[in-house]
Amino acid sequence: MADSAHPIEVTVNGERREAVVLGRQLLVHWLRDSLGLKGTHIGCDSGNCGACTVICDGKAIKSCMQLAVQADGAEIETVESLSEPLGPPDALQASFTRHHALQCGYCTPGMLMSATALLRSCETPPGQDEIRRGLKGNVCRCTGYVNIVRAVQDVAGTLPDGHDPLAHDRPSGARSGQSPRTGGTAPGSAA
Ligand code: FES
Ligand code: FES
Repeated sequence: MADSAHPIEVTVNGERREAVVLGRQLLVHWLRDSLGLKGTHIGCDSGNCGACTVICDGKAIKSCMQLAVQADGAEIETVESLSEPLGPPDALQASFTRHHALQCGYCTPGMLMSATALLRSCETPPGQDEIRRGLKGNVCRCTGYVNIVRAVQDVAGTLPDGHDPLAHDRPSGARSGQSPRTGGTAPGSAA
Protein backbone atom coordinates (compact mmCIF):
# COMPACT_ATOMS: atom_id res chain seq x y z
CA MET A 1 0.00 0.00 0.00
CA ALA A 2 2.70 2.48 1.05
CA ASP A 3 4.61 2.20 -2.22
CA SER A 4 1.64 1.62 -4.48
CA ALA A 5 0.41 4.41 -6.74
CA HIS A 6 -3.11 5.79 -6.49
CA PRO A 7 -4.96 8.16 -8.80
CA ILE A 8 -6.64 11.04 -6.98
CA GLU A 9 -8.84 13.98 -7.95
CA VAL A 10 -8.79 16.89 -5.55
CA THR A 11 -10.11 20.44 -5.85
CA VAL A 12 -7.37 22.72 -4.57
CA ASN A 13 -8.14 26.42 -4.21
CA GLY A 14 -11.01 26.02 -6.65
CA GLU A 15 -8.99 24.18 -9.28
CA ARG A 16 -9.56 20.52 -10.09
CA ARG A 17 -6.32 18.58 -9.81
CA GLU A 18 -5.68 15.03 -10.97
CA ALA A 19 -2.59 13.19 -9.84
CA VAL A 20 -1.09 9.83 -9.09
CA VAL A 21 0.35 9.69 -5.59
CA LEU A 22 2.18 7.10 -3.55
CA GLY A 23 0.23 5.58 -0.72
CA ARG A 24 2.73 6.94 1.80
CA GLN A 25 2.77 10.55 0.52
CA LEU A 26 1.50 13.08 3.02
CA LEU A 27 -0.99 15.71 1.92
CA VAL A 28 1.36 18.51 3.00
CA HIS A 29 4.14 17.14 0.81
CA TRP A 30 1.83 16.80 -2.19
CA LEU A 31 0.62 20.39 -1.77
CA ARG A 32 4.11 21.80 -1.37
CA ASP A 33 6.26 19.59 -3.59
CA SER A 34 3.87 18.61 -6.38
CA LEU A 35 1.61 21.66 -6.55
CA GLY A 36 4.18 24.24 -5.42
CA LEU A 37 1.87 25.63 -2.73
CA LYS A 38 4.65 26.39 -0.28
CA GLY A 39 2.58 28.73 1.85
CA THR A 40 1.57 25.62 3.76
CA HIS A 41 4.47 25.18 6.16
CA ILE A 42 5.98 22.14 7.86
CA GLY A 43 6.97 22.71 11.46
CA CYS A 44 6.96 19.37 13.22
CA ASP A 45 5.61 16.74 10.81
CA SER A 46 3.87 15.14 13.78
CA GLY A 47 0.59 16.99 14.28
CA ASN A 48 1.76 19.24 17.08
CA CYS A 49 2.43 22.72 15.68
CA GLY A 50 -0.37 23.51 13.20
CA ALA A 51 1.92 25.21 10.66
CA CYS A 52 0.59 22.86 7.99
CA THR A 53 -3.11 23.64 8.60
CA VAL A 54 -5.33 23.76 5.52
CA ILE A 55 -9.10 23.69 5.15
CA CYS A 56 -10.48 20.37 3.89
CA ASP A 57 -14.19 20.27 3.07
CA GLY A 58 -14.74 23.25 5.36
CA LYS A 59 -12.75 22.00 8.33
CA ALA A 60 -9.27 22.99 9.44
CA ILE A 61 -6.98 19.96 9.32
CA LYS A 62 -3.29 19.36 9.80
CA SER A 63 -2.07 18.28 6.41
CA CYS A 64 0.94 16.45 7.88
CA MET A 65 -1.49 14.06 9.53
CA GLN A 66 -3.33 13.08 6.37
CA LEU A 67 -2.22 11.10 3.36
CA ALA A 68 -2.67 12.68 -0.03
CA VAL A 69 -4.71 9.66 -1.11
CA GLN A 70 -7.17 10.40 1.72
CA ALA A 71 -7.92 13.76 0.10
CA ASP A 72 -9.33 12.07 -3.00
CA GLY A 73 -12.60 13.82 -3.83
CA ALA A 74 -12.09 16.58 -1.27
CA GLU A 75 -11.99 20.36 -1.57
CA ILE A 76 -8.81 21.78 -0.13
CA GLU A 77 -8.10 25.45 0.59
CA THR A 78 -4.57 26.62 1.34
CA VAL A 79 -3.36 30.02 2.48
CA GLU A 80 -2.80 30.95 -1.17
CA SER A 81 -6.59 30.98 -1.62
CA LEU A 82 -7.04 33.96 0.70
CA SER A 83 -5.77 36.57 -1.75
CA GLU A 84 -4.21 36.95 -5.18
CA PRO A 85 -0.37 36.96 -5.27
CA LEU A 86 -0.14 40.69 -6.06
CA GLY A 87 -3.61 41.62 -4.88
CA PRO A 88 -4.78 43.11 -1.61
CA PRO A 89 -4.79 40.90 1.47
CA ASP A 90 -8.11 39.59 2.70
CA ALA A 91 -9.62 41.07 5.86
CA LEU A 92 -7.92 38.58 8.19
CA GLN A 93 -4.50 38.97 6.58
CA ALA A 94 -4.84 42.75 6.78
CA SER A 95 -5.85 42.50 10.41
CA PHE A 96 -2.78 40.35 11.21
CA THR A 97 -0.64 43.06 9.67
CA ARG A 98 -2.33 45.93 11.51
CA HIS A 99 -2.19 44.18 14.89
CA HIS A 100 1.39 42.96 14.47
CA ALA A 101 0.12 39.40 14.85
CA LEU A 102 3.24 37.86 13.36
CA GLN A 103 6.96 38.11 13.80
CA CYS A 104 8.87 35.37 11.97
CA GLY A 105 5.62 34.41 10.22
CA TYR A 106 6.26 30.68 10.22
CA CYS A 107 3.05 29.84 12.07
CA THR A 108 1.01 32.45 10.19
CA PRO A 109 -0.41 30.39 7.29
CA GLY A 110 -1.70 27.80 9.73
CA MET A 111 -3.08 30.47 12.05
CA LEU A 112 -4.86 32.16 9.15
CA MET A 113 -6.45 28.93 7.94
CA SER A 114 -7.55 27.85 11.42
CA ALA A 115 -8.99 31.31 12.06
CA THR A 116 -10.70 31.38 8.67
CA ALA A 117 -12.39 28.04 9.36
CA LEU A 118 -13.38 29.24 12.82
CA LEU A 119 -14.89 32.51 11.58
CA ARG A 120 -16.88 30.66 8.92
CA SER A 121 -18.19 28.02 11.31
CA CYS A 122 -19.31 30.25 14.19
CA GLU A 123 -22.99 31.11 14.27
CA THR A 124 -22.25 34.16 16.39
CA PRO A 125 -19.06 36.24 16.26
CA PRO A 126 -16.45 34.48 18.39
CA GLY A 127 -15.00 36.26 21.40
CA GLN A 128 -11.55 35.92 22.90
CA ASP A 129 -12.16 32.59 24.66
CA GLU A 130 -13.71 30.94 21.61
CA ILE A 131 -10.89 32.18 19.39
CA ARG A 132 -8.27 30.87 21.80
CA ARG A 133 -10.00 27.47 21.80
CA GLY A 134 -10.23 27.54 18.00
CA LEU A 135 -6.50 28.23 17.66
CA LYS A 136 -5.31 25.85 20.36
CA GLY A 137 -3.83 23.47 17.80
CA ASN A 138 -1.60 26.19 16.37
CA VAL A 139 1.69 26.98 18.08
CA CYS A 140 3.44 30.33 17.83
CA ARG A 141 6.84 30.68 19.44
CA CYS A 142 7.17 34.41 18.79
CA THR A 143 4.12 36.51 19.55
CA GLY A 144 2.62 35.32 22.82
CA TYR A 145 -0.72 34.98 20.98
CA VAL A 146 -2.28 38.22 22.30
CA ASN A 147 -2.06 40.09 19.03
CA ILE A 148 -3.14 37.05 17.01
CA VAL A 149 -6.31 36.77 19.07
CA ARG A 150 -6.90 40.51 18.75
CA ALA A 151 -6.49 40.35 14.99
CA VAL A 152 -9.12 37.63 14.74
CA GLN A 153 -11.40 39.45 17.17
CA ASP A 154 -11.13 42.59 15.06
CA VAL A 155 -12.44 40.74 11.99
CA ALA A 156 -15.11 39.00 14.07
CA GLY A 157 -16.21 42.39 15.41
CA THR A 158 -15.64 41.38 19.04
CA LEU A 159 -12.55 43.46 19.80
CA PRO A 160 -13.40 45.73 22.75
CA ASP A 161 -13.02 49.45 22.17
CA GLY A 162 -9.59 50.69 23.14
CA HIS A 163 -7.81 47.44 22.16
CA ASP A 164 -6.90 48.56 18.67
CA PRO A 165 -3.70 50.62 18.85
CA LEU A 166 -3.96 51.40 15.17
CA ALA A 167 -7.62 52.37 15.10
CA HIS A 168 -6.83 55.63 13.31
CA ASP A 169 -5.30 53.62 10.45
CA ARG A 170 -8.27 51.27 10.14
CA PRO A 171 -9.29 50.92 6.50
CA SER A 172 -13.01 51.25 5.93
CA GLY A 173 -14.72 47.86 5.85
CA ALA A 174 -12.11 46.09 7.98
CA ARG A 175 -14.71 45.01 10.54
CA SER A 176 -17.31 44.09 7.99
CA GLY A 177 -15.26 41.28 6.48
CA GLN A 178 -14.77 43.15 3.22
CA SER A 179 -11.28 43.08 1.75
CA PRO A 180 -9.69 46.32 2.85
CA ARG A 181 -7.33 47.84 0.30
CA THR A 182 -4.33 48.24 2.50
CA GLY A 183 -1.70 47.12 0.01
CA GLY A 184 1.51 45.43 1.05
CA THR A 185 2.35 41.77 1.24
CA ALA A 186 -0.32 39.46 2.58
CA PRO A 187 0.83 37.64 5.71
CA GLY A 188 1.26 33.96 5.11
CA SER A 189 1.81 34.39 1.41
CA ALA A 190 5.54 33.80 1.51
CA ALA A 191 7.10 30.35 1.29
FE1 FES B 1 1.78 19.53 10.76
FE2 FES B 1 3.33 20.56 12.65
S1 FES B 1 3.80 20.27 10.54
S2 FES B 1 1.25 19.93 12.81
FE1 FES C 1 7.01 33.17 14.62
FE2 FES C 1 4.45 32.62 15.11
S1 FES C 1 5.27 34.47 14.32
S2 FES C 1 6.13 31.26 15.16
